[in-house]
Parts: sequence; C-alpha cells; structure tokens
Amino acid sequence: MCGIVGYVGVQEAAPILVDGLRRLEYRGYDSAGLAVHNGQSVEVVRRSGKLRELEKALQETPLTGAMGIGHTRWATHGKPSEVNAHPHTAGPVTVVHNGIIENHLVLRQELLDQGVELQSETDTELVAHLVEQQLSQGLDLVGAVRAALARVRGAYALAVVSSADPTRIVAAKHSSPMVLGFGQGEMFLGSDIPALLPYTREMTFLEDGDVVVLEATRATLTDLEGGPVERPRQHIDWSPVMAEKAGYKHFMLKEIFEQPRALEDTLRGRLDREAGDIVTAEVGLSDEQARGFSRVTLLACGTSHHAAMVGRYAIEELAGLAAQVELASEYRARSAVVTENELVVVVSQSGETLDTLEATKLAKSKGATVLAIVNVIGSAIPRHSDGAFYTHAGPEIGVASTKCFSTQLANLLMFGIWLGRRRGGLSAARTRELVEGLAHIPSLMTDLLTSMKTSMGEMARRYGGAQDVLFLGRGVQFPIALEGALKLKEISYIHAEGYASGEMKHGPIALIDEQVPVFVLVPRDGNYERSLSNLQEAKARGARVIAVASEGDDAVAGVSDSVVAVPPTDPLLLPLLTVLPLQLFSYYVADFKGTDVDQPRNLAKTVTVE
Ligand code: M6R
Repeated sequence: MCGIVGYVGVQEAAPILVDGLRRLEYRGYDSAGLAVHNGQSVEVVRRSGKLRELEKALQETPLTGAMGIGHTRWATHGKPSEVNAHPHTAGPVTVVHNGIIENHLVLRQELLDQGVELQSETDTELVAHLVEQQLSQGLDLVGAVRAALARVRGAYALAVVSSADPTRIVAAKHSSPMVLGFGQGEMFLGSDIPALLPYTREMTFLEDGDVVVLEATRATLTDLEGGPVERPRQHIDWSPVMAEKAGYKHFMLKEIFEQPRALEDTLRGRLDREAGDIVTAEVGLSDEQARGFSRVTLLACGTSHHAAMVGRYAIEELAGLAAQVELASEYRARSAVVTENELVVVVSQSGETLDTLEATKLAKSKGATVLAIVNVIGSAIPRHSDGAFYTHAGPEIGVASTKCFSTQLANLLMFGIWLGRRRGGLSAARTRELVEGLAHIPSLMTDLLTSMKTSMGEMARRYGGAQDVLFLGRGVQFPIALEGALKLKEISYIHAEGYASGEMKHGPIALIDEQVPVFVLVPRDGNYERSLSNLQEAKARGARVIAVASEGDDAVAGVSDSVVAVPPTDPLLLPLLTVLPLQLFSYYVADFKGTDVDQPRNLAKTVTVE
C-alpha cells in the first residue's frame, strides 16, 4: 500500500504534492519522491525515509513547475532505499505506482534479455520501461500507457508523465484506489480522499480498467481499449481527520474492515489457480530443500505467535512435518536445540521486535535455515534471515494487530500447502481445493464483516460489562481463542483468557458462573462434536455462551445465548473467518468503554525492548 498524488494547473505543483503526500503517509512512509515538469523536462527528487527527508531535499533542490506527480512508499518489491523510491524514470517517461505487478519476474527477465539496464529492484520501473518502449514505437503517451498495461498483470494505480508534454498526466487504475479532484483551472489526483480535501470537495472515484488523461481544465476518461467512460462526480464533505481513517472512527476499525483487501494483496500472484498450486519463487527455497527439512520451529511474539500456532497445525497436517511453536522470548531463555536440516520460520509484523530478532539470530547461529514472514520490507528480521515471504497488509497503525494477523495466517497456510505439495504429502486434488478456498476468502470476509456491522456492537453492549471473559477453541481454533482474549485485554483492559476447550475441565472451569461470558469457537470441523460438548459443559455451569459457529447450525444455536454464524470453507481456512467477530467484539467493547483504541495504555506498536 503506497500513496500517489498528481497535480496539473496554474500553481506551483511541488508544495501541493508534498501536502498531499503528508496526508497519505498513513499508506506508507519508507521513502518518498516527486517529479515536476519545469516546462523543458521532468525533474525528480527522491529520498529514503519519512517525508521530512524529501522536504529537506526539496529545500536544497527546489522543483518548479505547474504539473507533477508524487509518491510515498510502502515497499513491496525491493527494500526501502533511494534507488527503489518512486518516481521511476525510463527515458522521457516518469511513473509513480501503488500496487503489485504480479508478472514482474517475467517482465524483468524480458527487459534484461533485451539489454535494458534496470536501476532498481522495483516492479514499477518495469512499467516505466514498457511505456517508454511503446512511446518509441510512435504512440502518444496515453496510447503507450494502454499498450504497456496490456502486458501487465496485477494491481496498479499509476500516474505517468512525459518530458515531451508539460500539460498532461496519464493515470490508470486496476485494483488499487484512485480519486480525481476537480478545481478551478486545475486538476488533482490521489490514492485517497485526504490528499485532495484541502483543495477541492468535487471528486470522481475511478473504477478498475479506467485510464484518464488529466489536463488543467479537464479529465478525459477511457477504458483500456480507448472507449469513452463516464464516472459520476461526487461532493465529499468529510473532515480531513475522518478522511484519513476513511470515515472510520479509529484506525483499528478501518484495518479490521480492510482485511479483505489486505488478503487479496497478500494472495496476489501467489495462488496459481490454473495449475492448482502455490507460487513462492520469492522465498528462495528449492523443492529439494523443502523435501530435506527434518523439522520446523516457528518463532514469534504476541499476535504473531498466535498466527504461528495456526501455521504449526497447517504444516503438520499438510506437509506431515514435525512442527513446534516457541515464544521468541522463551526460545532465547533456554538452551534451544537446533536439529540438522531444521527450518525456523520467524513471524513478525514489524520485523523489528527485539525478542524475535534476537531469536532469529540465535537460530541462525545454530545452523538453522531461517525464513521470515514479515510485513515491513527491509526490516531487521528479514535481513538476518535466509529468505522472506512478505505479507502485503500495508502499514498497520492501530497497536492491536488485526489485518497483519490475517495476512500472516494466509502466508503460513500458503507455505504449508507449498511444503506439503513438494514433500508429497498433499494430493493435487486437495491442493487445488485449498488454493480455491483461499481465493474465495476475501469475498467471504467481506460478507461476514458486513453482516456483523451492527450485531457485534449490540453484542459488545450486552456482554462488554463483564469483568472476565473466556475464549475457548480446539485444534486450529485454539490459537484464535488466544487471539480473541489478547485483543480484548489489550484494548478494553478487561481480564480475558483463551483456553484449549479440552483443558477447561482440568481447572479453569471453576472460574465459570453467570457473570462470565464464554466465547466458544465451534465451527463444523474435525473437532466439532467435542467442541460442542465443551460448550454444553460451560452452559451447564451457568456461563453466558457466545458461539462462533457454522451457518445454519441449529444444534449450537439451541444451547447458546448468542451465535455468530460464519460461512462454510475448508476447516483449515476457518481461522481467517472466526477471528473476525472476536476482533470486532473487542473493538466495540473498547469503544463503548472509551479507551484509547489505537494507542492503548502501556503498549507500543513495535516492542524493541526486552
Ligand atoms: O511486530 P510483531 O508482529 O513482531 O509484534 C509482536 C507483538 O508485539 C504484537 O503482535 C502485539 O502482541 C500486538 N499488539 C497484538 O495486537
């Protein structure tokens, strides 16, 4: 997730572009850049780091001119650095891009074979070269952009300028957002409403497949074939703060509802639905290595540890490989043994958590092969690992992790499928089923989130006054119970415990009385009957039971006080759905209590202390 802006009009472009980027910094902040047409040519200034680094550079090298484009980056291909920062240039063409080009490896190789010299590791630079090649064939800029996009698969919101034309920006959209703003004799472009709000409230949201030529006095919309397109103009009356959170009250709520989009980005280019397989070329592990591993150890902290626990179940079930999960801090606190041919999978949103980083170094020093599943590209953990399988959730601002958890689950499940297929434990038919199942998860998530919009608020009002809340789950739902309890603890400050359902009778069941709401995760999976028995045991002791169950399960509904119904999917993929009501419940409880949801007391987003 990156932010792009564009301006063409009568004012100096650079200050407007920088201001727009500042309002989009929530979309990414590892590097930034501007390209402004000075009437003769396009000048570019880029800097690694936050926007203030670019601002400092612009004081030394001011850019003047009334047309330009800008970018704030959240790395997806290529580490954060000046050379990977946007805009990217090829001959007369300069491009900024938000999205992920799926076929970038093929395009890169083709361009290299043609002798093109690439400066960066990004997928975006490839687009600049493709457009430049089409321009040199005699097409005009918009024709060249269309022809280049015919070669591209994936997600993009692109803005392209040419040094030969100081009056036009060509922009195009597929899967990544793009908004046009209409001023008086000036036009604006942005990834999101906040970038444009100080300048205009008249906006048009582009749709997938739209291509627009932006001039100072007009925007001409076409489709990818050049046919005319009309989109409505809307008046937006949001305040700038509301706009940054896309109208949501808190970043956490926005991030919960962003999960279908985050999942799509994370799955993009990694599900080969035609072949029924998983593509993990970026990870750098060979099929031979996959067959040679003797055991997997997963290391993580907090929410990432819960995702790692689901990963363990997936690896054991799909790849038949011994797997264990460790809290990174505890791994460091004992004399952990690394076996021959051991794979250590490190899971972290930030890639900077101190305990996880130190555990990574320890495992590596003891001879393990280390794979990082991380959200922040170029962070410390992947730098100390042998390979990285990045989640593409975009920046997560809320301290309570939500969308990063789901994307970690997706990567761990994909990795488990990939391992299982390579090691021979997983049939082609089951692999295809899981690949198809994953492809459908984003739309199931959207439906489930929509269905819970009002009901979870009511549930939070009904049960949120409790002093203690229990969360029970079995098998792959056990880590989800732990995650539900952690979410509630960290943002609502209510005491909550996650338990393996089967463990209740060994002690914790003594805690249950009429005051204690008990969430029971009881979807139809291989553990359903036993989980239902555990639910009934809690009910029989007076608990107020909230079941998270499969749609249409009358048996569960008959014995529960409240039910959240989740749609059917493969049992191994169900955690991607069952976690959603627990995240929303915690959010609404915290909001009713009036806590600081996005920055709860005593916590930090990234924990770099021991
Ligand atoms: O960045 P990491 O994933 O390594 O962070 C690990 C934990 O600090 C983190 O998951 C924490 O538990 C979250 N606040 C949970 O919402």
